[in-house]
Amino acid sequence: MKILIIHGPNLTRLGKRNPAQYGTFTLDQINSQLVKLAKSSGIDTEFFQSNHEGAIIDFLQSSDKSRGSNGILINPGALTHYGYSLRDALEDTKLPIVEVHLSDVDSREPFRKIDVLDGIVIKKISGRKEKSYYEGFQYLINYLKNMLSSSRPRNK
Ligand code: DQA
Repeated sequence: MKILIIHGPNLTRLGKRNPAQYGTFTLDQINSQLVKLAKSSGIDTEFFQSNHEGAIIDFLQSSDKSRGSNGILINPGALTHYGYSLRDALEDTKLPIVEVHLSDVDSREPFRKIDVLDGIVIKKISGRKEKSYYEGFQYLINYLKNMLSSSRPRNK
C-alpha cells in the first residue's frame, strides 16, 4: 500500500514561519515522523512539495503516480482557499484524500474559512500543529486498511 504526501506553498518555511500558528517543527522533521509511522504500518510513501499549483497537478498526473498509490495526505497551504485547478486534479485521482492544516484555519482570517476541497476529502484535520499530519496520516491508513479488509472475500 502506498500513500502520497503532498505539501503546498510556503510549507518549506516551517520551523521559522509564525510558530504560534504553525509550531516549531520543520518540514523534514514532520516527514521523518511520517516515514516512521508508515514503516510501522508497512506502508510505502512518496513525498512532494511545491510552491506552484501547476507543479502539484503535474505531479498528480505524472507517470501514473496517482494510480500507483492508494491514498493522498495533503496540506495544500493557501491553495486550500482558492486552488480550483488543484481541487479538480485531486478529485480526478478518485483516491481517498485526507486534508491537514497545522493551524486552526476556521478561527483565523475570514479568507481561510473558504475551503475549495470541501466535498472531495474523506477527512480534514486542522489546528493540531504537526500532530494534524500524524493524526491525518493514521486516519488514512486505518481507512485504507478497512477498505482492503472489507473487499477481501471471506473464507467459508
Ligand atoms: C495552512 C493554513 C493556510 O491558510 C496557510 O496559507 C498555510 C498553511 C496550515 O497548515 O495551517 O500556508 O495550510
